[in-house]
Amino acid sequence: MHFTARAHTNIALLKYWGKADTAIITPTTTSISLTLDEFYTDTTVWFDESLTADKFILDNEIITGHALQKVSRFLNIVRQQAGIASYASVISTNHVPTAAGLASSASAFAALAGAASKAAGLDLTLTELSRLARQGSGSATRSIFGGFAQWTPGNDLTSVGSPLLADADWPIQLMTVVINDQQKEVGSRAGMQHAMTTSPFYDLWVKTANEQVNQMITAIHEHDLMTIGQIAEANALQMHATNMTAVPPFNYLTDKSWEVILMAQELRQKGIPVYATMDAGPNVKLISNPADTEVIKEALLAIVSDNQVINAHPGPGIQINAGDS
Ligand code: PMV
Repeated sequence: MHFTARAHTNIALLKYWGKADTAIITPTTTSISLTLDEFYTDTTVWFDESLTADKFILDNEIITGHALQKVSRFLNIVRQQAGIASYASVISTNHVPTAAGLASSASAFAALAGAASKAAGLDLTLTELSRLARQGSGSATRSIFGGFAQWTPGNDLTSVGSPLLADADWPIQLMTVVINDQQKEVGSRAGMQHAMTTSPFYDLWVKTANEQVNQMITAIHEHDLMTIGQIAEANALQMHATNMTAVPPFNYLTDKSWEVILMAQELRQKGIPVYATMDAGPNVKLISNPADTEVIKEALLAIVSDNQVINAHPGPGIQINAGDS
């Protein structure tokens, strides 16, 4: 039987940056994210006894090599849990604005976990789905849930995601600023491992992140945009500081990224609450109030063009349906 899952991507306000256990993917710190409405992945899966290998089609292209292997390894976990042996067909579509460079392993593995587990005959709770998604990609752990979600350290059973405030129906938005600079990619997996094992700042990162968790949770419950933004921007800069102090150092942020980060700081001096957060790439996401969209856009247009700004709001948790999408 076919099952289709839709999972939205999420942006971490407190980052996951380092694994306590690399084999089962558990984090060194608690991360907290906002699931977004604009970016999502639809994935359809069915297991088929006549197949001689797993098949993976992404955005209408047949995928082979490393990306197929990652999907197959994940399907092996599902097959083991369900006690089945047959191979699967996986058809995925990423709903991300063209060339935005925002294709996300978070929505991809959350959607795959949802569709594959159902197609394999498993009926997992959201917590169990989160645990399964984690084994594909850490950030996917949080994409099972809508609104604000957290993912805590722990062991294979306890390190799961949970909702903090699923109905984030108050004025908060994330404006993604797509920076098109060409730069050498360091994947998040390699990047966090290198920062964790070589940066003298890494222990301080863990200590500071631990202190930020309760402050962030309180701010979210109080709908306190300024405190959420302040902590998120500090946390992101601290994460990037571990990269810049790794041995040898590496850096995801370009001159354009910094122009946008400094623009946010300047707007704050004029009384507009806008805060930057950056992941394993040059794009900058601006946390802000929808009421300030126009003034922020105007400032951004001095740095990037209109089609490089994508506005997103809190999005829903995973949806799984029988049949094709
Ligand atoms: O889930 P991964 O391996 O793609 O790592 C995600 C890392 C960050 O995006 C930088 C932070 C996060 O918590 O999402």
